[in-house]
Amino acid sequence: MVLEQRNLRVMLETAIVAARLAGQRAMEEINYTKVSVKNATELVTQADAHCQKIIIDRIKETYPDHGFIAEEGNQGGIFKQPPRGAEPIFWAIDPIDGTNNFAHGILHFTISIATMFKGEPIVGVIFEPATDSMFTAVKGSEAQLNGRRIEAGNDKMGQFTSIGLDSHFDCENGLPKWVCEIIKRTRHRNFGTTALHIAYVAKGSLIATIVTTPKLWDIAAGAVLAENAGAIMSDWQGGKIFPLDLDSYEGRTFKVITANKEVHPQIVKLIND
Ligand code: IPD
Ligand code: CA
Ligand code: CA
Repeated sequence: MVLEQRNLRVMLETAIVAARLAGQRAMEEINYTKVSVKNATELVTQADAHCQKIIIDRIKETYPDHGFIAEEGNQGGIFKQPPRGAEPIFWAIDPIDGTNNFAHGILHFTISIATMFKGEPIVGVIFEPATDSMFTAVKGSEAQLNGRRIEAGNDKMGQFTSIGLDSHFDCENGLPKWVCEIIKRTRHRNFGTTALHIAYVAKGSLIATIVTTPKLWDIAAGAVLAENAGAIMSDWQGGKIFPLDLDSYEGRTFKVITANKEVHPQIVKLIND
């Protein structure tokens, strides 16, 4: 099966509409949504499930036979529906990336939607409703923010550059040495949404972002954006993350670097030295 650019364009338009609908709903619910604890370690809100349903229902109107992998399933598990037809296409969805922010009324959260063909992300949409920022990418074409081309930068680490870090370091023996180096040599940032960190690498605002425990739906849309913007997404050893066997994917975590091409080798070395 070959996917043509016009098929990808329809997928992109579908993802954009779904993200806007979910974003609108999330903004309506942010001040009264019910919050609970999931898997003993994470917050989840009613809005997460509402937004996920809105997204999947919208995509199914256009693609009733495609598969879905999304964050919010039953009892803290993932939501997974294999494709019904012969097309090896899954949609990877994070209905609210930044739930912890969202649950506390912090407006930094995103909706992240990717289309995946044979285990590779081919369409990516990351939408930040609070700033009306729609990041979009279709494999083989340019990465865009609100319809305008974006590109990763080319700065290496330096005192005026920023690197996005998340909040999940294993600090049993103190902060890892490479984290201290990054804190010393750059202005580190944590927006509380991995998808937004990746989008900001694609836009050249962050030189890199390093994530410790993301799942498929945190990185899939960002992978297309990063690649199209000239950045590199890899594991911590510098190896490829995609393609993945989605038939067997059940929510495993990855260790991911997304960085501009200049700084990527520097960061791989720093983490592994
Ligand atoms: C979280 C955010 C956060 C990252 C967490 C993720 P969620 O996603 O991306 O930045 O540090 O690991 O779980 O739970 O808000 O979708
Ligand atoms: Ca997430
Ligand atoms: Ca989420």
